[in-house]
Amino acid sequence: MTFDFAEIEQKKVLWKDSLIIKGDSREMVKKLPNNFYSCCVTSPPYWGKRDYGYNGQIGAENEMDQYIKNLVSIFNVIKNKLKEDGTLWLNIGDSYTSGNRTWRAEDKKNPARGMSFRPPTPIGLKPKDLIGLPWRIAFALQEEGWYLRSDIIWYKPNCQPESVKDRPTQSHEYIFLFSKNEKYFYDFERIKEPTANKKTFRNKRTVWSVNTEPFPDAHFATFPIELIKPIIEASSLKNGFVLDPFFGAGTVGVVCKMLERKFHGIELKDEYIEISKKRINNVR
Ligand SMILES: C[S@@+](CC[C@H](N)C(=O)[O-])C[C@H]1O[C@@H](n2cnc3c(N)ncnc32)[C@H](O)[C@@H]1O
Repeated sequence: MTFDFAEIEQKKVLWKDSLIIKGDSREMVKKLPNNFYSCCVTSPPYWGKRDYGYNGQIGAENEMDQYIKNLVSIFNVIKNKLKEDGTLWLNIGDSYTSGNRTWRAEDKKNPARGMSFRPPTPIGLKPKDLIGLPWRIAFALQEEGWYLRSDIIWYKPNCQPESVKDRPTQSHEYIFLFSKNEKYFYDFERIKEPTANKKTFRNKRTVWSVNTEPFPDAHFATFPIELIKPIIEASSLKNGFVLDPFFGAGTVGVVCKMLERKFHGIELKDEYIEISKKRINNVR
């Protein structure tokens, strides 16, 4: 270790080197070592989608621009924490403006989808507009100096049905690959995919078809393991460190343990820390 862990309050050591850090990632990331992580793999709270029940939570901003600024400022700190050849893999989904609705009714199957508020329609957009948030965030990060290297479509064959009749059902999210510098670590050989005849392999494509994995203990969508595996394999070596500042149920930690990487995860809620500890401890 090249930095002083005593600086991190309320830290929870799980295993030698790998950690779950309890706290607000906006503060905690500042305490992490510089130039240290091979990659950051994360899915931040989406704008106006889930109520995580914290004051001043990311995702509950009234203004879209403020939400984008909040994310940009945390990822700018993270840029210093990545190695010079490090990468950021950011998963983010899009959403529609709320129109005149100010709250979303409780979804019986998925209670956390009910919000006590819905942000107003951003200036310049109309009711029913697709916001294009992933791209707005991607462009904002690009302006800050990140290299935007890939827009991966995570296609979800088992996506949630929608009752809409005037547009197709949303069945994808984005995973953006950003690099800190022009040259960066990306092991394309490691994650090659089979060709249609399954006889040869080719460079991995940008549409990744992966089913969502229901995880009833968590009140949010967790990463499917198969979505995260190629990311970690391509962007870190064994024993390299991976960062997830919105750790949730700890899927990044689970995959890191499977692939013999180390991780630092940051999470606000004790309940989710306990879930992730259990999941990671179950990996043999
Ligand atoms: C979308 S979930 C992440 C799920 C995760 N990718 C997984 O596979 O389980 C976002 C997580 O970020 C946490 N969170 C939200 N705001 C946070 C903050 N400011 N600092 C740390 N964690 C935060 C939430 O409690 C939630 O667990």
